[in-house]
Amino acid sequence: MPEVQPSGQLIEECESTNDLCRALGEKGAPEGSWVSARRQSRGRGRLGREWASAEGNLFFSLLARPLHRERASWIPIAAGVAAVRAVRRLGGPEGLRLKWPNDLWLGPAKAGGILCEGVSGPRGFFVVIGIGINCRSAPGGLGQAATSLGVDVDGLRPLLAEELRACLRELDSAGPAGIREAYEAQALFQPGTPVSWAGERGVALGLDASGGLRVRRDRDGVELTILAEDVSIRPVGDQPC
Ligand code: BTN
Repeated sequence: MPEVQPSGQLIEECESTNDLCRALGEKGAPEGSWVSARRQSRGRGRLGREWASAEGNLFFSLLARPLHRERASWIPIAAGVAAVRAVRRLGGPEGLRLKWPNDLWLGPAKAGGILCEGVSGPRGFFVVIGIGINCRSAPGGLGQAATSLGVDVDGLRPLLAEELRACLRELDSAGPAGIREAYEAQALFQPGTPVSWAGERGVALGLDASGGLRVRRDRDGVELTILAEDVSIRPVGDQPC
């Protein structure tokens, strides 16, 4: 039987594109299928937060079906790499950086974020990669600095789908080494950067074998890995994010 090709759809409005993408996954859609909306009425962020979703910004979710489940922890990292590449291809700012695990930052402000959700069901394991990018406007009232990139949202969708599919293929075929290298080149937390998390302070050391962030804690010199699900982390001196 011929392989089903992934497709993408743009709709006017939904609650969350991650929910629609999950439904695609449950129906058996192939890796690389995506859905995007001009507006979301209940956009979700990481750590249970709301994601403000005004028209003109990007709300986009793409389906991943990793061949190697043990590499799935690298998918959020790969998604960040793909997002930066897509924005740059559209002439977006060179200064765009990835704040671990996968926020897009420009200078001291957040310009986008990624929410990956894993699902195990009768059709196997898949991951919904949800990406929000402030293309036209920066939401206010978040208790943190936000900025927008001034890139064309309609131009960004196809480039993002292409870059995400390429990064997922690379992860499947070659493993995380190349993704890791690309991530580290764009990382806000270069080794030695002072960081704070959950009332602690330390310095960033780099990524561990699963894409977790290694840090050395100031108060006792202990080296440990921070898990993305657990905490928010910030450069010392910045607002919570
Ligand atoms: C974060 O907290 O930084 C992650 C934000 C992820 C937002 C995107 S917008 C498209 C997709 N649909 C959602 O409801 N959330 C993600």
